[in-house]
Parts: sequence; C-alpha cells; structure tokens
Amino acid sequence: MVVLSKPIAAIAVFVSVVTAQSFQRLGTCPDLGCILPPDQADFLAGQRFDIRLEVHAPVNGTQATGNPNPDEKFEFTIERVGGHRGVLSGAKWFAVTEPKLEKWTFSWYEDYFARDAGTPSIVNVASKAFRKVFLDEAGEYKATLKYNGKQTVATWRVRDLQEERKTRNILFFIGDGMTTNMITAARLIGHKQKNGIYQTKMAMDQFPVLGHAMTHSIDSFITDSANSATALYSGHKSTVNALGVNVDSSTNVFDDPKVESIVELFYRVWRGHIGIVSTAAVADATPAALTAHTRDRGQAAYCVDSFLHGTKNYSWVDWDGPDVLFGGGAENFYPPSLGGKTYNNKDYYKEFADAGYGVYLNKTSLLQAPNDKRALGIFSVSHMSKWLDRNVYKENLKGQANHPSGNKGDALDQPGLKEMTLKAIDILHARSKADPRHSSQGWYLMSEAASIDKMMHVLDYDRALGELLELDDTITASIKKLEELGELSNTLIVVTADHGHGFDVMGSVDTKYLLSQKEDRKKRSAVGVYQQSGLSEYQNTGELTYNDGAHFPSNWSPRYALFAGLATGPDHRENYVVHENGPRLPAVNTPGRPANDYYANDKDAAGGFIVNGTLPTEEPQGVHSLTDVPVFAMGPCQELFGGVINNIDIFFNMANCLGLSRTAHGKGQDPIGN
Ligand SMILES: *[C@@H]1O[C@H](CO)[C@@H](O)[C@H](O)[C@H]1NC(C)=O
Ligand SMILES: *[C@@H]1O[C@H](CO)[C@@H](O)[C@H](O)[C@H]1NC(C)=O
Ligand SMILES: *[C@@H]1O[C@H](CO)[C@@H](O)[C@H](O)[C@H]1NC(C)=O
Ligand SMILES: *[C@@H]1O[C@H](CO)[C@@H](O)[C@H](O)[C@H]1NC(C)=O
Ligand SMILES: [Zn+2]
Repeated sequence: MVVLSKPIAAIAVFVSVVTAQSFQRLGTCPDLGCILPPDQADFLAGQRFDIRLEVHAPVNGTQATGNPNPDEKFEFTIERVGGHRGVLSGAKWFAVTEPKLEKWTFSWYEDYFARDAGTPSIVNVASKAFRKVFLDEAGEYKATLKYNGKQTVATWRVRDLQEERKTRNILFFIGDGMTTNMITAARLIGHKQKNGIYQTKMAMDQFPVLGHAMTHSIDSFITDSANSATALYSGHKSTVNALGVNVDSSTNVFDDPKVESIVELFYRVWRGHIGIVSTAAVADATPAALTAHTRDRGQAAYCVDSFLHGTKNYSWVDWDGPDVLFGGGAENFYPPSLGGKTYNNKDYYKEFADAGYGVYLNKTSLLQAPNDKRALGIFSVSHMSKWLDRNVYKENLKGQANHPSGNKGDALDQPGLKEMTLKAIDILHARSKADPRHSSQGWYLMSEAASIDKMMHVLDYDRALGELLELDDTITASIKKLEELGELSNTLIVVTADHGHGFDVMGSVDTKYLLSQKEDRKKRSAVGVYQQSGLSEYQNTGELTYNDGAHFPSNWSPRYALFAGLATGPDHRENYVVHENGPRLPAVNTPGRPANDYYANDKDAAGGFIVNGTLPTEEPQGVHSLTDVPVFAMGPCQELFGGVINNIDIFFNMANCLGLSRTAHGKGQDPIGN
C-alpha cells in the first residue's frame, strides 16, 4: 500500500505533461522554467554553444496558473559538482555581461481536440540567451533557473575525453533511412548464393566493428533527418526539423540556441579540411546540419548561404566554406531571374566562384576538375537522379527540366555517389597534403546516400535498394582509393544511418500470376512465403555489368520479385514490379476528394491490389520508424563504435578520435596557434 501511494502522487503532479503527448508546449521543458540545452545534455570540453532560458506563464488552457505574467527577475546559476568555483551566476561563470531580457508570446494546441476546435493555449514568455559560451572542465554541472519561487535544474556533463588525436581523417558515410533489413535485402538482390552461402559479401559486411545506434529525438521517439544529423554532428539531441540548435519557443527560426558541429570544431581546433557530399539537394537536412543553425530545415536558401558564411555569421570561427560541396539543389544557387530561390536573391554560383571555388555542373567537368582547388559541384535541380534511372532506365533522365544551370534542360550527365565521393577524397587529400601542416590537419568528409530514404518514402523499394548498393559500391571504391593514397590506416571510416523505415522482405511474388488475376484477393495468392519464397532471381541474366563489376542485380525485373514492404503507408496499390518509368507516386489527391485526402494512385503499380493505409489520410508517403540503426567502423578508434550506443555517441567518438576535446588543463584552445 505504501509502495503504491508514491507513484499515484507522482502521476497526479504530471497530469498536464501526460496530456501534452502529441503536442507539447516546449518538448524539452515540462516545467514552466526552461533551460536549453536541457537536463541530461552532454558536451565536448571547449565546444561552443548558446544557452536559452525561458520562464513560461500560460495565460489559458489546462496549464494556466492564474498569473499571466512571467517572472522577469528570474535567476540563473551554474555550479560544477565538486568543483572549486562554487555557485555563480551565468554571467559571472562565463565572465560576460548579463544578457538583455527578451519577451514574447506563443501559442500551441494541447491535443487534437483543441486543434480541431481551433482553441490554442496562449503562453507569455520572459527569456535571456547567453551566446557562444563553453565549458572546459570535464565533470558534472548543475544549471539552475529560479523563477516565481520555483526552480528548474539541468544536469549537464562535460565528457572526460583525451585530447590526443588518433586519426588524421574521417570518412563518414550516412545511408539516410538505412536499416539492417534494407542491407539484408540489398545483399539478397546484389549478391549470389549457392545453397544458402553467399559467394560475395557487401563492403559493409566486411567492417571489423558493428554497433547499434538509438536514433530517437530529444522530445519524440521518432526522428527526422534534421535532428538526427544534429545529434550525429554535435552530440546534442534535438527536435524534429531542427539543424544545429535546441528549439526554443520564439517564432524567430534563427534565434534558437546553437551548438557547434564537428566540422566547425575541426576547423576551429585544427584548421581541418572539410568535404560535404550528398545525392540530395545540398540544402537538405543531412548535409545542411554540418553548418546551418536554424530550427527550420525548410530554410533552404539560408542553408546554402551557411556553407559559405555560416560560421562567420552565426558561429565560432572565421571559416569561409568547405573544400568540397557536391550534390543537387541547384534551385538555391541560380538566381531568381532563372527561377531560383536564393538567399538575398543572389547568384550562389557566383558567390562560390568569387570565394575561390571551381564550379562544376556535370560529371565530365567534375572528373576533370583540378585537385588543388576548392570545388562546388551541383548536378541537378532538387535531389539528384537515382542510381536505377542513371544506370538502367536512362530514358527517365529525359523530360525532367532539372539541369543545374536553371536552363530547364535535362541533367543528363550526373555523377553518382561514387564519382562524387572519390573526387572529394582526391581534392581533400591533395589540399590537405599541400598544406605545410599536413600531419596536423587532415580532412573530414561526410558522404550521404540520401535517396535510400527518399525512395523508401514513396515505397519505391527497387530504387531505394539501388541507392543502398551504390553506397556499398562507394565504400568499396573509397577504401581502395585510400589504400592507393596511402591514407587508409590514417582514416577512420564510419558507416551509419540517421533513422529507419519499417521495411522488410517477407517472401517473393510471382508477378506474372499476380497481374493475370482479376480479383484483389486472388492477386494476393501470388505471394510466396516460407518455402514458396524460393531464391533471388535478380542475378538471373548472367554477369554483372555495372560500374566495373560492382555488385548490383543484373535483372531488376524478374518474374519472381521481392515481396517487400513497409509496415506503414498511405493507401496504395502494390504489384511488386519494378517501376520502369521513374520513381513511384503511391498516393494522390484525386479530383473530387477533399484537399489533403490521399488515396491510392490508379496509375501507380497498375494491375496490383489495393493496400489500405494506416497513416493519417493527409500523409501521402511512408514514414520513419523507431528501429536502432547499424554503425560500421573501420580504422583508428574503430573499437569505440561497437555495442549498443546512442546516436550522440557517434559525435563524441569521432570528436575524441580527432582530438577535438579541449580542457582548461590540457593543451588549451588552439593546438595549431589560431
Ligand atoms: C486562449 O485564448 C485565446 C485568445 O483569447 C483563444 O483564442 C483561445 O481559444 C484560448 N484557448 C483556450 C484553450 O481557451
Ligand atoms: C552572412 O554574411 C555575409 C557577409 O557578411 C552576408 O552576405 C550574408 O547575407 C550573411 N548570411 C546570412 C544568412 O545572414
Ligand atoms: C559539362 O560542363 C562543361 C563546363 O560547363 C561544358 O563545357 C560541357 O559541355 C558540359 N558537358 C555536358 C555533357 O553537359
Ligand atoms: C479499404 O478500405 C475501404 C474503406 O475505406 C474499404 O471499403 C475497402 O474494402 C478496403 N479495401 C481493402 C482491400 O481492404
Ligand atoms: Zn525521410
């Protein structure tokens, strides 16, 4: 009885928090006093970050206290547990002047009923922000916000890491949305088996260390690519849509408290060379999170500017851009006169050229680019074309009006992830080696196979697996290239994902039988499970011809196709046949139906059967899932990546290996004298 009474009391206290499940006043702030970064945040010693303090006074709704005025005289203190400085005000701790008071009002919905009724709850806020501060002693800190006679305490930890550098370079591959299930399916269609034994392995299969990373957001258990990239690059979990910041409650999308990313740290501490490669638009979340600091990943034009000016304008060092930036997203480079959407309406090809970049708009010119010059390569409008269309169904490259110049022609000469990554390595290697501080500099390259995710969203499993096999081929080729350059033993290679999709393979489908049946229920009997699944037919037309014998299916359209799918989706049709005419469009907003009410697209997977969706009907695509993602590591510090880890640990492990931790008692802030 005594045991029971405690949890019941605790539940009563937190009732308002429990109701704020799908909608939150501020996800990281269950109390009315908010400290950002919040409780449980970990930091690298010396890592720059901003602190945002907020005191909330809910005016109405279930959380209203009857006092609509937030305490403007709130106090903020910091203490290092067991340290000698005692409890100091934030201003004293960081030796800065007290920040000025800011005030705003925001509104939020407490649940779906309030949303449907259009009755938001209003909150008045008093706030202050400390900018560009850092903690340089390892250990536990207590940050306390006192307001209205109450207090909020955040426990922060500066991880105790050695300052010694253990790797010269890091090659960081992200398979966006890539799960172990997808790797398993890619292996099945790209590699031959004999009596249950694979005759070849994936490059990923051959890494010495395998870990498992948790991907959840700071305030929701399903993540998007923005906040998961923030976790991977900065060691700080954040909120959906946020790049390089914790999310505050103000409406300004650029004033949220920032945290320094691995490339900003690497440049500040070591003047390291940086490369960014993606098959997405370069302003997409995974590449942009390296330099952008905004709660809104939709600020594409700003994200492009952030590559060039980001660290100067918003951050911590006088850095004017990466050595290499390759991907799609031309619409945020060519000027508005050509239909572009650019930051301050400028021509960003010109901005990059003026900053000393060679600008390349096709594969031919990319491959011929000098290795000693900084390089911008933008190869299409929006996300780049998919491996399957570039290599097998090439007709689909036509009629896209996606030429990166903005001339509305087709981008017919696009490189793949492999060409971009190999060229990036050549440039980073040459530029780093030409520098007199070669041994202390090195490089950091992030290479993203973005369209594993993009194609999983539209349920186009063939294209998604083609992208995954291209990533694997890129890994093989990169290892070979590093060996040739004599840099393999100086390079930590990490391959991971930012989140999953609920995809798996459950058997095979006789597509000929399926398409010959009239009834939906009868079509489903074409699905072969267990022993009827048979063997993969994706290599049944002889030898593999793509990319110098790399492992891809020789036949993407076998009669017996994969019975594969997502656990969730919109209403859609399924025929399991490869979509030869380009990426899928599974659900559409049909005429005569209400706006944002998506139903199965008649023209997609024609002849297939209807699969009723389980997602809200305004969701036209599949969504991310909860699964942990694999982490493969090879090279210096590989042992840090094994076992079950959190995505933020990937940042701390990489930072540790690069020697980016800088404590007051160590070598100090600037090992190379900046
Ligand atoms: C709170 O007040 C606003 C403004 O008066 C109003 O629009 C809203 O419906 C109120 N919300 C609730 C939950 O009462
Ligand atoms: C960053 O600074 C540059 C040069 O001062 C300026 O041209 C650019 O607009 C700024 N970018 C942003 C996003 O504020
Ligand atoms: C590639 O770009 C170069 C330089 O802009 C141009 O001269 C060449 O014609 C382009 N090649 C193709 C195949 O588009
Ligand atoms: C799909 O759902 C609709 C109702 O929304 C129902 O009429 C139909 O029978 C369902 N189809 C299948 C194949 O389950
Ligand atoms: Zn996604």
